[in-house]
Amino acid sequence: MTRVAHAGVGGWGRNVARVVGELAELAWICDVDEGRREEYARRYPEARTTASFEEMLADDGVDAVTIATPVPTHHALARQALEAGKHVFVEKPPAMRGSEMEELLSLAQERSLALMPGHLLLYHPGLVRVKELVDAGELGEVACVYGNRQNLGVIRSNENALWSLGVHDLSVILWLLGEEPSEAVAYGMDYLQEGIEDVVFCFLRFPSGKVAHMHLSWLDPHKMRKMTVVGREKMVVFDDMELERKVTIYEKGPWEPAESYGEWRTRTGDIYSPKIANDEPLRLELAHFLTLVRDGPGDHREALDGLAVVRTLDRLTESLRDGR
Ligand SMILES: NC(=O)c1ccc[n+]([C@@H]2O[C@H](COP(=O)([O-])OP(=O)(O)OC[C@H]3O[C@@H](n4cnc5c(N)ncnc54)[C@H](O)[C@@H]3O)[C@@H](O)[C@H]2O)c1
Repeated sequence: MTRVAHAGVGGWGRNVARVVGELAELAWICDVDEGRREEYARRYPEARTTASFEEMLADDGVDAVTIATPVPTHHALARQALEAGKHVFVEKPPAMRGSEMEELLSLAQERSLALMPGHLLLYHPGLVRVKELVDAGELGEVACVYGNRQNLGVIRSNENALWSLGVHDLSVILWLLGEEPSEAVAYGMDYLQEGIEDVVFCFLRFPSGKVAHMHLSWLDPHKMRKMTVVGREKMVVFDDMELERKVTIYEKGPWEPAESYGEWRTRTGDIYSPKIANDEPLRLELAHFLTLVRDGPGDHREALDGLAVVRTLDRLTESLRDGR
């Protein structure tokens, strides 16, 4: 059984630790917080606990490391783990600069190790269905994609709405379209804390001519977790706030009847929601990571996706600063 060492058992990291424990051998738990270490020593008596990341890396029996510590620590911890010859799963984003992500990718490639960023939504059965519809050409030519990730709170003080909320939608948009943007523009405002944008609007244009938009905000009356894809033949909405109808397909589109050439009308057909499996995305995501650990990292697709996301975030951040 794959032996995994896990770092960070805070709000989200405890979910990662739980699923690792279900799918593999949770050999080590590392957290700098003593109270959390004590809690986990009681909960997983067969695992070793430590405050030292280095101590768990020194265990030659550890095959892989999962990291769910605060974002600013990701790059350094992931680099140490790769240098120690361990496969790495690291929560999003793995780095805060494109150059740092390039360094992690090179290390993983040189050593043939898996490097997988925690892009959870790429494993959500609803979005996997949307991706299948796009790839199969069911929607016709895709014109635009837009994401809404809004709520009142959680107000962060160590990252802005772009980095806190945008990684999710950006990973989905780049994956759905299979391109990196040629243009990346962001505008935002820091109403509550100086230098930390609470509301961010992003515009992306892709070499194919497709465009995308993201509305990211923790100052909003609506809780929205939505992605809309507009195709020439059909349109599809993924809504993570819906319990049963996560995906809705609209047979709607522009229509130019042959008898009235040049005159555009619209066409409205069925609206339906396919059944979406209720599988836990985190479990599917970590099962995929364990497959990479077992079978090898292949073409490093996951790490390359992570690089495209961090590189685009870098450009959006630059644009946000320029717009001030
Ligand atoms: N995929 C998702 O949907 C999702 C959701 C929430 C958070 N996250 C990501 O998960 C990560 C963790 O988020 P969180 O909400 O659990 O944070 P958190 O602050 O609640 O927990 C972080 C934990 O890491 C520990 N820690 C800090 N530095 C450490 C170090 N050097 N070595 C070992 N332990 C260390 C802290 O003591 C704490 O227990 C973040 O990167 C966040 O972006 C992902």
